[in-house]
Amino acid sequence: MQDKINELKKKIAEAIKDVHSSDSLFQIKMKYLGKSGEVSELMKGMRDVPKEKRPEVGMIINALKVWAEEQFGKLDRTIKDKELKKRYAAEAVDVTLPGNTSKKGAYHPNTLVKRELISIFAGMGFTVFEGPEIENDYYNFTALNTPADHPARDMQDTFYITGDLLLRTQTSAGQIRVMEKQKPPIKILSPGKVYRSDDDATHSPMFSQMEGLVVDKGITLCDLKGMLDEFARKIFGDGVKTRLRPSYFPFTEPSVEVDVSCFECGGKGCRLCKGTGWIEVLGAGMVNRHVLEGCGIDPEEYSGFAFGMGIERIAMLKYGINNMKLLFEGDTRFLRQFKG
Ligand code: DAH
Repeated sequence: MQDKINELKKKIAEAIKDVHSSDSLFQIKMKYLGKSGEVSELMKGMRDVPKEKRPEVGMIINALKVWAEEQFGKLDRTIKDKELKKRYAAEAVDVTLPGNTSKKGAYHPNTLVKRELISIFAGMGFTVFEGPEIENDYYNFTALNTPADHPARDMQDTFYITGDLLLRTQTSAGQIRVMEKQKPPIKILSPGKVYRSDDDATHSPMFSQMEGLVVDKGITLCDLKGMLDEFARKIFGDGVKTRLRPSYFPFTEPSVEVDVSCFECGGKGCRLCKGTGWIEVLGAGMVNRHVLEGCGIDPEEYSGFAFGMGIERIAMLKYGINNMKLLFEGDTRFLRQFKG
């Protein structure tokens, strides 16, 4: 029996010599100490040992079992230790490496200008009204003193949806919606998208406008001029002057085209102002009495001024953008340059 045990000891020692993974160690352990393993089989063989020898044999087998368990245990700890170290090494994170930063977005130049305009005019007491982009003929044209056969309809190439419904060509349509609902004093600003069949470096089929309307007792062209001066200084910088040139819009009388003195050259003449010293920025005028009457406002009692500007045009002037397409392409290399 002792020989058998020595042999088993040798076998076990040999078997675990080259074991490097806890999986194979477990297999070997089972082979010897498992339910039908070799050591367990020895125990079972006790039946055939004469009764008086059993305690002695039992002790040696037990000692073998204890020894084997110790061997396996020791090796198991070393292997597990190594395996853990390996895992830690594989999962190691270099906390000194720079992290993955996500790119920060920036406001679109149109949004920046729109917000700036709203903030400038809000400072002068204007509130914001947003009209619908799909309008009917009445609000976009007729109520703005532009009946069906009026030649001024040719000033804008309109996208019609049906005979009566259209994509608004001007935020001026919002003026009518406000005047129908609200009685003077009125002081509103109406930003929004407008649509025209027009497409080149300075025109796009969809663009944005900012409309303004003031109606009250005793409003004159001087009020318009004073407000425009304030607006020009705030958006283009101190020292910028305005000038009014006679123009024509069906819904204003008189109508004016508003220029600002060139903020690039100070009025001396440069490429931006095409040598003239002035840059055209918006259209404006005194609200035509027919328009007021059509909205139920008595032109004998009230008068008003209105103005409308292209937001993209202001953005292009302010940021020196030479092609309107850049504002619609969504190229992040372009958009990243603007900080709000
Ligand atoms: N609606 C005009 C356009 O789109 C701009 C405009 C001019 C608006 C004069 C006005 C105004 O309110 O008074 O060309």
